[in-house]
This record gives sequence, structure tokens and C-alpha cells, in this order.
Amino acid sequence: MATTIIRTPVAEDLPAIAAIESVSDAEPWSPDALASHLAQVHALDAVAESGSTIIGFVCCGFAGDDLEVYKLAVDASWRRKGVAASLLRHIIGIASKKGIRRVYLEVARSNAAALRLYEGLGFEESYRRRNYYGAHGDDALVMSLAVASSG
Ligand SMILES: CC(C)(COP(=O)(O)OP(=O)(O)OC[C@H]1O[C@@H](n2cnc3c(N)ncnc32)[C@H](O)[C@@H]1OP(=O)(O)O)[C@@H](O)C(=O)NCCC(=O)NCCS
Repeated sequence: MATTIIRTPVAEDLPAIAAIESVSDAEPWSPDALASHLAQVHALDAVAESGSTIIGFVCCGFAGDDLEVYKLAVDASWRRKGVAASLLRHIIGIASKKGIRRVYLEVARSNAAALRLYEGLGFEESYRRRNYYGAHGDDALVMSLAVASSG
């Protein structure tokens, strides 16, 4: 099996990222929205690649001391192999070198897979937005993780 590498996305990765996003999120970003995010100065993103196939991605943005995770998804056939955890650890490592102190993200309370993943990496609930997701009335949990300084 090909080794999985984690790297910064390039423009050519956009169709593969958009394809994963379109089937992974109830409210997916359009290809245009993804392209616009990737082009931003304050974006911090990564893709996971196996062979020449993009199998997952994470999109974040930073401001001051904070990093926010906007999107994280792994192709359904590649889940439970540690890809998302590797993407997040990679991003947290870069954040640490940039002097970012805390990583935030928002997750639906019913998203057990994502919650388990984030808790496993040390994220803790900061606060809860009740009935945040109008379509199904689910709560949103805002979780955060303190980033250790890398000196
Ligand atoms: C959530 C998601 C990104 C996880 O990706 P993944 O690559 O499968 O996750 P990993 O393999 O890195 O999992 C790491 C740990 O998270 C937890 N986890 C991940 N998926 C899980 C599941 N379906 N059920 C229970 N725990 C799960 C486990 O603790 C796992 O460790 P283990 O496999 O050793 O038990 C993936 O399921 C996905 O793309 N879902 C759709 C999009 C989404 O919900 N994104 C998050 C939005 S907030």
C-alpha cells in the first residue's frame, strides 16, 4: 500500500478536495468557496495523499493567537486509518511554530466520530450553541485545544 503523506494543497488538488467535501458535509462548501479559502493569506490547510490520490483534507484559518478549523473530511473508503488525526496533528504542529496558542473548532453534538477524534487529540468543550443546526436542531459544540509552544 502507498504511504500516506500530508502536505500543503495546490490549486490542482481542488477538484479532489471538492469531491470529498460534497459528500462529507450536510452543508458543503462549493468548489468556488473552497478555491477562495485556499487563496487566502490567513488560510492554513493540508491534504492527505496516498499514491496520487487525495484521501482527506483540512481547511483552517488563523488570526492572532487563534486557529479555527473550518473543514475536515476523509474519503469514506479511507476512514478509521488515522488520516484525520494525522491531518490535525500536522496542522497543530505548524500552528505551534507560528506562535498560535489555541485551536478552535465547531462540531455537531451528534457527530460521534468527529467528537471521539477531537477528544482523543485533547480538545475540550468550551461552550455549546443550542439548536444551532436549524435543519435538525442539533447543538453545536465549540471545542478548543491549547497549543504547546515549539519555542
Ligand atoms: C470525522 C472524520 C474526519 C474522521 O476521519 P478518520 O480519518 O476516519 O479518523 P481517524 O482514523 O483519524 O480516527 C482517529 C480516532 O477518532 C475516533 N473515530 C474516528 N472515526 C470514528 C467512528 N466512526 N466512530 C468512533 N470513533 C471514531 C477514534 O477514536 C479513532 O481512533 P481509532 O480508530 O484508533 O479508534 C471522518 O469520519 C469524516 O470525514 N466524516 C465526515 C466529515 C465530518 O464529520 N467532519 C468533521 C466535521 S466537525
